[in-house]
Amino acid sequence: MTTAVITGANRGIGLAFAKALLARGDTVIGTAREPAEAGELANSGAEVEELDVTDDASVTNFAERLQGRSVDLLINNAGILRRDRLDSFDPATLQREFDVNALGPLRVTNALLPSLRLSAKPRIVALTSRMGSIADNNSGGFYGYRASKAALNAVIKSLSIDLDPWPAVVIHPGYVRTRMTGNQGDLTAEEAVERMLLVIDKLDSSMSGKFFHRDGHELPW
Ligand SMILES: NC(=O)c1ccc[n+]([C@@H]2O[C@H](COP(=O)([O-])OP(=O)(O)OC[C@H]3O[C@@H](n4cnc5c(N)ncnc54)[C@H](OP(=O)(O)O)[C@@H]3O)[C@@H](O)[C@H]2O)c1
Repeated sequence: MTTAVITGANRGIGLAFAKALLARGDTVIGTAREPAEAGELANSGAEVEELDVTDDASVTNFAERLQGRSVDLLINNAGILRRDRLDSFDPATLQREFDVNALGPLRVTNALLPSLRLSAKPRIVALTSRMGSIADNNSGGFYGYRASKAALNAVIKSLSIDLDPWPAVVIHPGYVRTRMTGNQGDLTAEEAVERMLLVIDKLDSSMSGKFFHRDGHELPW
């Protein structure tokens, strides 16, 4: 049985991951910034833990609460998107996107290493975006989101080397109907998660350090 940690599991794709893993009998530790408001996550049967991925003390405390427990799958899902443009960007907003989207997964993964080391087969996944692909950027804009997801991709690539042979990958879920997209998109969070789990379930060291589309093919960096 797998024990999975999912960050930002109180809504959207993170909540759909929690429900899908619980439905097949896995143990889910779902994190939320405001556990008291994570009713749907708690009702799903997940263990709910408080975590703000930008707060060092919050990350350290979370890792300490997991001390001695094995974590088989870490899904770095928490993320934010701000719609900035060249003529109206705010450096503080871009820095916040870097803090949540790129530094957050690095902080959390590093803090959870003792728990991941207790697993026979640890796997690390981060939810990236095709918008973080430099090769695939044909429409510009979104400076903070694109750059922070490109930075996340670089972080996970380094982790895949430093933590070899553990698989560490980034996955693009597609354009998914959640609060982040104003409920616009091509598919539901449940549909995106169902497909991403097909990729996650077959992760091994030969797939590590790669940038996957939810359907399993590789995307250009
Ligand atoms: N939806 C898409 O089309 C799409 C496409 C490509 C990639 N993605 C990526 O997929 C992931 C999930 O996106 P989503 O669509 O499910 O977004 P969402 O519905 O906006 O959910 C984002 C989650 O991240 C959490 N979060 C934000 N800041 C946090 C912080 N500082 N510490 C801990 N948790 C924090 C939120 O918690 P609160 O409720 O407390 O704010 C929420 O649980 C993100 O990394 C996103 O970039 C989504």
